[in-house]
Amino acid sequence: MPTWVQLVFLACGVCFILALKGLSGPKTARNGNLLGAAGAVVACAVPFFWRDLNLQHVPLILAAILVGTIGGVYGARKVQMTQMPQMVALFNGVGGGAAALVALLELQEHGEFFDWFPLAATAFTVVVGSVSFAGSVVTFAKLQELMTSRPVVFPGLPVAFGGSFVAAVVLSVMLVNEPQMWIGIVLGLLGLVIGLLLVLPVGGADVPIVISLLNAFTGLTVAAGGYVLSNTVLLIAGTLVGASGTFLTLLMANAMGRSVANILFGALKGGSTLGGGEVSDRPVKSAGPEDIAILLGYAERVIVVPGYGLAVAQAQHTLRELVDVLIARGTHVDYAIHPVAGRMPGHMNVLLAEAQVPYEQLIEMDEINSEFKQTDVVLVVGANDVVNPAARTTPSAPIYGMPILNADEAKQVVFLKRSMRPGFAGIENELLFEPSTTLLFGDAKETLGKVLAAVKAL
Ligand code: TAP
Repeated sequence: MPTWVQLVFLACGVCFILALKGLSGPKTARNGNLLGAAGAVVACAVPFFWRDLNLQHVPLILAAILVGTIGGVYGARKVQMTQMPQMVALFNGVGGGAAALVALLELQEHGEFFDWFPLAATAFTVVVGSVSFAGSVVTFAKLQELMTSRPVVFPGLPVAFGGSFVAAVVLSVMLVNEPQMWIGIVLGLLGLVIGLLLVLPVGGADVPIVISLLNAFTGLTVAAGGYVLSNTVLLIAGTLVGASGTFLTLLMANAMGRSVANILFGALKGGSTLGGGEVSDRPVKSAGPEDIAILLGYAERVIVVPGYGLAVAQAQHTLRELVDVLIARGTHVDYAIHPVAGRMPGHMNVLLAEAQVPYEQLIEMDEINSEFKQTDVVLVVGANDVVNPAARTTPSAPIYGMPILNADEAKQVVFLKRSMRPGFAGIENELLFEPSTTLLFGDAKETLGKVLAAVKAL
């Protein structure tokens, strides 16, 4: 590899590291993202200027880049905020699949000259890349509701999963001893089967965590592919994705009070991992927008708990307007941010940043939880599981052990939701039936608009 290529790749690697650093804070995230994208564009452009590489099929490569770019830009512009996890799953799966295909091509072209270690790395890339591809397709189908989001379990699934895994290990050893193409292809097919069997038993609410895990898999696959191809920039990028994906998976699992093993295999042991749920017909106290406006307008301390429904309703701008009016009236208002509110990490931060809510008003769960006791009104907008006390009290509940926002400790709780349907965990929320709780039914954007008008009229 010529020195100039090594230097450019090094610079790209530095861009990726700085990008990750930038992405760790809302103020620097946009620039971080741009820097990472710039590094990726430069890295992809290098082969076109690298004379000794003797790049062939240039028109085909350019056509593929054009198709990918159009698809990527169109998809990213069209996607709804609530569909972001599906899009990440799709992009991630394509990355894993591409790495597996590249490794298979390398096996065909240069396999016989490989030492044992590059061959082992090839086997790893083919299997794990295929797992990532198939798993991501299933997560996409679950989140896009193209199939049931409930855990899919059938008798013999653990045996089929274990058998495929052992077969993949045996075939990988065979490939290292004898680099033959048919072994590589069977390994790829086995990877697809393992990916399917790994993700089918995972319930809907746990899918975002599996997406992050598969993302880590893709990273490791790309890193191994980088080793096989002696490509340092792939090695760096893959390792960064692998490491950050692993951390993100662990952080999310922690925030939900669950282990990764429980998320992946909980359904196999009979403990369901969520999805669906009954609609309760127990009586609740409901009120109109004017009553809620009075509650809010004369409160000294209000905490807003945003959740997935806020994103569905796209009510973030109306919510910010309401909070601004309350603050102007002298009320102390903050937003309480639960780490897994919504459907992806940082979902609420991104949503509220879009509405230009000042960062200082977004308070993390650990910091704000002691303040609910002194709070007059908690306004829960499209959230449910993140304030469900069953997480503390009901060991059989799928969210048991998940740290929650202590909304139940406030003097009054107001829920804005459309119906008595449960949250993503599919379980009833006792807080809805408490005497201190009032429900305002309807789409959050509509009801918030009415409450806003009524507060202005006070
Ligand atoms: P959920 O518990 O899913 O509750 C969302 C609520 O929004 C529901 O009660 C729903 O009730 C309401 N809603 C939906 N559309 C609405 C609309 N247009 N207007 C008003 N209300 C609307 O959400 P949450 O409290 O944010 O909890 C997140 C869940 O996702 C947790 O179970 C968490 O573990 C899981 N999860 C999150 C992540 C990340 S990283 N965020 C990762 C994995 C899992 P109606 O249908 O009656 O309106």
